[in-house]
Amino acid sequence: DLGKAITKYTEKREKTNLEPSGILELESINEKFQYMTQKLDETEKANKKFQSDRQLMLASISHDLKTPITVIQGYSKAIVDKVITGEEIIKKSQLIYDKSCYLNELVDNFTEFSKLDHTNFKYDFKDIDIAEFVRNYIAIKYDELESKNIDLNIDIPETKIIKKIDTQQFNRVLNNIVNNALKYGGNNISIKIQVDNDKIAIFNSGKAIEETNYSQLFKPFVKGDLSRNEGGSGLGLAIVRKIIQDHGFTINIVSNKDSYYKTGFI
Ligand SMILES: Nc1ncnc2c1ncn2[C@@H]1O[C@H](COP(=O)(O)OP(=O)(O)OP(=O)(O)O)[C@@H](O)[C@H]1O
Ligand SMILES: [Mg+2]
Repeated sequence: DLGKAITKYTEKREKTNLEPSGILELESINEKFQYMTQKLDETEKANKKFQSDRQLMLASISHDLKTPITVIQGYSKAIVDKVITGEEIIKKSQLIYDKSCYLNELVDNFTEFSKLDHTNFKYDFKDIDIAEFVRNYIAIKYDELESKNIDLNIDIPETKIIKKIDTQQFNRVLNNIVNNALKYGGNNISIKIQVDNDKIAIFNSGKAIEETNYSQLFKPFVKGDLSRNEGGSGLGLAIVRKIIQDHGFTINIVSNKDSYYKTGFI
């Protein structure tokens, strides 16, 4: 009947050809009509939210790109116009180069973030020994950690801990978290990496995060006070959470009184 047809259209946008069949249906039609308008309202609301999220995202991206571009433009123009000369040229060129690396990193993050969101993106899950995987990650990162004088504490068992993971994406997870530890770890940075059967925990020194902020930090483009001067897209943890959830694992931040951060996932 007409009532069913309305429901079908409201839920699945499927059209039904109907013969009218009298006044008895009016009550049910009224009910279904209310349902339909409610659904349409919800859709419209979701659409509006999507639009404003997207606008916010674009504004945020342009803002992040603008600052390094301004620096690059300013210094390169000054070099071309010979306002900057001699030794200064080398110094400013290094700055230009650093800023361009930073831009590259930002663009990589944006690309990665939107790639993960795309329906066509497929993970390559394989049975992997997490203990060995984390050890390998640290081995590759070791030079960088050593050059920065990081006090590193590693607690990884010799036994195998097999989990189904996409190694490339999981590498990104570890790297984003460890890079945060390096960025927000304070002056004398210490990092502890612990692996056991049900979690990987990464602790770092530094100022404690307020508990009210924990879930906010996983949202795209959210940057805390600490990163105000550090730069960054605010996408690091959003990417981490997406990957972790797509694996069926969980992630949380714990920041306790002895001012160590723990980001653990199962
Ligand atoms: N280990 C940590 N210790 C203290 N604060 C942290 C830590 N990790 C993240 N945060 C806070 O969470 C915010 C969000 O982190 P996230 O990695 O998503 O973005 P970002 O580091 O600012 O930028 P990006 O990672 O894209 O370069 C940071 O700006 C910082 O304030
Ligand atoms: Mg980060």
